Amino acid sequence: MEKIKQQYQETLARFAEQKANIHRLWNIEEESAHLLFMLVLIRQAKYILEIGTSNGYSTFWLAAAAAQTKGTVHTIEVDEQRYKLAKENLKIHDNILQYHARAEDLLMDFEPGIDFLFIDAGKPGYIDNIDLLENKLAPGAVVIADNICSHPETTAPYRNYIENNPACFSQVINLNAGMQLAYFTEIQG
Ligand SMILES: C[S@@+](CC[C@H](N)C(=O)[O-])C[C@H]1O[C@@H](n2cnc3c(N)ncnc32)[C@H](O)[C@@H]1O
Repeated sequence: MEKIKQQYQETLARFAEQKANIHRLWNIEEESAHLLFMLVLIRQAKYILEIGTSNGYSTFWLAAAAAQTKGTVHTIEVDEQRYKLAKENLKIHDNILQYHARAEDLLMDFEPGIDFLFIDAGKPGYIDNIDLLENKLAPGAVVIADNICSHPETTAPYRNYIENNPACFSQVINLNAGMQLAYFTEIQG
């Protein structure tokens, strides 16, 4: 990880500065970003979708991994200012497609075959997000949702749905805001 961090030193310094000086970016913590990075590599994911770009910190790490899998990151942000900030921050990567939109207005337009999904926008919307996307997931897709422990009530419908879904195995990781990892498979568990 240190080697990767050195390679992208300038951009990471920029993210650190923004995190310290700009309110309401809500970036995931570094450990969580590294976990996403590793999971994309482990899954060898190529078609990655993120809901909730903010200024692009998590997108940056997804794209750094996707650079190694020859994948593309699609990422959606509703707020114009954060969308534009992310555009600037993410210039270093050429494998990102950014969308300035409400996720719920756009999700039905994505092609099937998504093999990595990161959900990190409005928490009450998580359940609708998976509802719109589940039939577009590739077999063996990895789906991660953040803030499961920090916002247990608002994320409960999503968490319960995933935990009771026979199409996937899941586990909540008590790291930072708490991520729920789900592995979608044909195998009934
Ligand atoms: C927790 S932040 C994302 C942080 C980012 N993933 C990171 O770690 O750097 C959530 C973002 O989702 C955006 N958002 C909220 N509701 C949304 C929606 N319905 N569609 C798209 N973006 C949304 C917010 O504007 C905010 O910037």
